[in-house]
Amino acid sequence: MAKIIAGLASSHVPAIGAAIDNKQTEDPYWKRVFSGFEKTKEWMAKVNPDVVIGIYNDHASAFSVEIIPTFALGCAAEFPPADEGWGPRPVPIVKGHPKLASHIATSAILDGFDLTIVNKMEVDHGLTVPLNLAFGSPTEWPCPVIPLAVNVVQYPPPTGKRCFDLGRAIRKAVASYPEDLRVVVFGTGGMSHQISGPRAGLINSKFDKSFLDRLTKDPKGLAAMPHLEYMREAGAEGIELVMWHVMRGALDDHVREVYRFYTVPASNTAVGNIILENVGKTGKKPAAKKKAKTANKTAKKGLRKAA
Ligand SMILES: [Fe+2]
Repeated sequence: MAKIIAGLASSHVPAIGAAIDNKQTEDPYWKRVFSGFEKTKEWMAKVNPDVVIGIYNDHASAFSVEIIPTFALGCAAEFPPADEGWGPRPVPIVKGHPKLASHIATSAILDGFDLTIVNKMEVDHGLTVPLNLAFGSPTEWPCPVIPLAVNVVQYPPPTGKRCFDLGRAIRKAVASYPEDLRVVVFGTGGMSHQISGPRAGLINSKFDKSFLDRLTKDPKGLAAMPHLEYMREAGAEGIELVMWHVMRGALDDHVREVYRFYTVPASNTAVGNIILENVGKTGKKPAAKKKAKTANKTAKKGLRKAA
């Protein structure tokens, strides 16, 4: 059976894509950002998933104000890079996994999530920048990627809770797929940033760091955060963070945080990256349980000695 083994969340700042495309990653400004993703790339190469499910938002590349799907699942065989104004990014075509994507669509829709099924779609920096940050710049992406676009551009975006529950539905769908596939889910966007209006340039590191902490330890409580709090604390575009809840909902309640990186600024945003592994799926026990077990053993030994 297929299983979700881990989740990765990352900002998807367009300027990061431009820095890669223009070979500026070694410039002092960008080196600070890219060096934080070296460990991410090492982890990804080691994990080597069979499929990635990429939760991202389209930035008026595939959709426009004419059609605004809340959740759009890419079921096509491939997704070409979109022309975002300067021509398409020079990145490989994203190859999909139509069979697994259709299975997720069926399972999630019958579970009450009315996903929009998309059989033809271009993908923009929202998806391709995190792929670069996780896989580098290969000539072909190393595994199929199923894009799931979430509307966070036009009010009203879905709630964090709805996103988290969609993650749960995706987890259930993947677990019932008969082929043995190891799946990693990406949540992208954010962190705090605002690109227009009187608060343009807003970055709130305290909020971002707390968000990372709670994503690992208090995912359900964090998913209950209302939109207004994102707007107030993380800026208008900070609402992109609701997409991280889809990733978190697709994981187990207890996860192991294996890596975290945070830096400001990149362009006009805060950049965050976190990797969470499903503990149960790897057969390794959470540290807390392990400690309790060791304490029990010690206590039993003590009792035996006393007897
Ligand atoms: Fe974005």
